[in-house]
Amino acid sequence: MKKLKIAVIGVGSISSVHIEAYQNDVRCDLYAFCDIDEKTLKEKGAKYGVTRLYTDFNEMFEALPELDAVSVCTWNNAHVPASLAAIEAGCHVFCEKPMAMNAKEAAELKKAAEKAGKVLGIGFVRRFGKDADFCRELVQNGQLGDIYYARANYVRRNGNPGGWFADKARSGGGPLIDLGVHIIDFVRYIEGNPKPVSVYGATFARLYNRAQLKDKKAYVSAGSLGEKDKCDVEDLASAMIRFDNGSVLTVETSYSLNTGHDSGCIEIFGDKGGVTIDPNVVYHGVMLDRMTDIAFPSQTAFDGSEYALEIENFLSAILDGEALRATAEDGVELMKILDAIYESAQTGHEVLL
Ligand SMILES: NC(=O)c1ccc[n+]([C@@H]2O[C@H](COP(=O)([O-])OP(=O)(O)OC[C@H]3O[C@@H](n4cnc5c(N)ncnc54)[C@H](O)[C@@H]3O)[C@@H](O)[C@H]2O)c1
Repeated sequence: MKKLKIAVIGVGSISSVHIEAYQNDVRCDLYAFCDIDEKTLKEKGAKYGVTRLYTDFNEMFEALPELDAVSVCTWNNAHVPASLAAIEAGCHVFCEKPMAMNAKEAAELKKAAEKAGKVLGIGFVRRFGKDADFCRELVQNGQLGDIYYARANYVRRNGNPGGWFADKARSGGGPLIDLGVHIIDFVRYIEGNPKPVSVYGATFARLYNRAQLKDKKAYVSAGSLGEKDKCDVEDLASAMIRFDNGSVLTVETSYSLNTGHDSGCIEIFGDKGGVTIDPNVVYHGVMLDRMTDIAFPSQTAFDGSEYALEIENFLSAILDGEALRATAEDGVELMKILDAIYESAQTGHEVLL
């Protein structure tokens, strides 16, 4: 069997889970790495035994026309340029979330992949969780009935990662584009991917990067916690999103907030039942004329194995035509929602999509 030759662009924190998934899949040959940071590049090359190392993705594509596919794990501002270069070089692309800095860029990338006939997967990894599988099963079995409302939060009280995450030119925004994408996408997935029709949102930049506080939490993957550098992103975003299936989602996400604890809870409500993921899954319904809560403690919210599943899905999409669980269309719809939240926050008005 001819193995797919894979390159990873951006070999910082999250790249490790991509790299290890490729390494463990017999259908792949982990072929090359690219990162603008030479030190990171050399370290990752040595760690994973990859010797084709490049600091410029254009040079890599020129030197290695035999590449079949790439994972793009750069800062958000390079997702589209790196993915477009990859498609132009004839590669399939798996792009980390968020797909782009905005919806216009995202749509251009989707179009380029379609035109070239290349697979373009997006890293909405929560679609691969056991909790997501279970919630989809509840929906498909009619246990929730008609879903009309959801609420989701991903709140850190002192978890601004700093570094590029806090630099809008490289990230595109704060907790909304970093954390909010996961929970908004999760709700869309469970509801069968409805499209947004209107958005009302508010964002606040009041606390900035206070991760240098003594009680800082070790959430941060960027490795830059504690840097007292630039912070021009929001520290709180709150929004109400109306979808074309008639349902509404309220969402709240922060890097910094004067609250008692961090939280990450998703609730989805239908006219037959509801479900809470916090992180275990609890079903709420009526039984024998009484409100009933059924806990499913084996449904873990996230244990990291999901990353291997998303890469497996990407490879099967390339090799066997398997349907992607998180498509470029999902990436574009998500970016439309984010753009609308940021626009509404600026104007103070609802945005119609
Ligand atoms: N799906 C998830 O659960 C998840 C988790 C963390 C991060 N992410 C996403 O993954 C991406 C990377 O995040 P991270 O935490 O690994 O950041 P990171 O800073 O640790 O790594 C990013 C790497 O990209 C490199 N880079 C930046 N621009 C580049 C370019 N033009 N060409 C080549 N390399 C470039 C940087 O030098 C850095 O080494 C982000 O888009 C982030 O949103 C997703």
